[in-house]
Amino acid sequence: MLRAGGDPGKVVFSGVGKTAAELKRALEVGICCFNVESESELAALDAEAAALDKRAPVSLRVNPDVDPATHPYISTGLKESKFGIPIESALAVYQKARALPNIELRGVACHIGSQLTTLTPFIDALERVVALVGELADAGIELSHLDLGGGLGISYNEERPPEPDDYVLALLDALQTHGTRYQKLRILIEPGRAIVGNGGLLVSQVLYLKLGETKHFAVIDAAMNDLMRPSLYDAWHDIAPVRVDAPRERRVYDVVGPVCESGDFLGRNRELGVAPGDLLVIASAGAYGASMSSNYNTRPRAAEVMVDGARFHVVRRRETLEELLAFEALPPEAN
Ligand SMILES: Cc1ncc(COP(=O)(O)O)c(C=O)c1O
Repeated sequence: MLRAGGDPGKVVFSGVGKTAAELKRALEVGICCFNVESESELAALDAEAAALDKRAPVSLRVNPDVDPATHPYISTGLKESKFGIPIESALAVYQKARALPNIELRGVACHIGSQLTTLTPFIDALERVVALVGELADAGIELSHLDLGGGLGISYNEERPPEPDDYVLALLDALQTHGTRYQKLRILIEPGRAIVGNGGLLVSQVLYLKLGETKHFAVIDAAMNDLMRPSLYDAWHDIAPVRVDAPRERRVYDVVGPVCESGDFLGRNRELGVAPGDLLVIASAGAYGASMSSNYNTRPRAAEVMVDGARFHVVRRRETLEELLAFEALPPEAN
């Protein structure tokens, strides 16, 4: 992020497992806020900040126990989730944090999950967090910001998530009802997918068609290692041929990759007119696509190409097999 020219002063750092090296680096560059997720992390951050003779800007990431009504793997604000500090314990943890010499309490944070398609869970979380801000103020802990996380969904198929401006207006309206005490709070949001999800496509070539009695398969050269969401969450991504003018018989296919897993599919039961050699696009791959990709099955990762009108530029070139193997070494006795 820094190498890309990002402003460290706009960074909030969440995550249940921040390492000592990461805490130190973030303190050195001066990030906006550490969203601390446990008491032991708080102690570690206080120690790192003391070693650098700094005070760490902190929000506690609370877990408001709100059901975001999304896939369980991307629900992060429920009681049983590993994320955040249970909201009922937050006041006590804030009081402990206040006593730590190298911690400066700035705000409260939450992130209840990803790919939310209605506003209600966001508003429920905001209400709970605002109630906590009030309790903290009564206890003499004044905060300056409220970080409501990311999570705004996109349309993969038939979902119709709220538009970003409706989402922001709904948050501000809800805050407004709580009166002037809360109006000086700075509101931070951390949307990811809503910004880039529908900005990316995965392009793949059909290798073979396997026509069977009960199922037809279109075997393509992209796989679960390139786009993990269908395998991981049973997520639906639109799949369409790049060229629609070629005469092709339409059939219902499972669109699968070459990896040795039955879970290696990009889409199931899709009606398509395709032939070997045709290019397909797998839509909505701009978020949690390349970033979740891997070299599973010794598959070099795909190139990333940025398209700007009629111009394009390779922003990450394709990996080679030699590069993947360059990380490996034989033990000395095998040489
Ligand atoms: C703490 C936090 N904030 C923001 C995001 C971005 O979420 P989304 O892409 O759903 O907006 C994530 C995603 O995992 C997250 O963990």
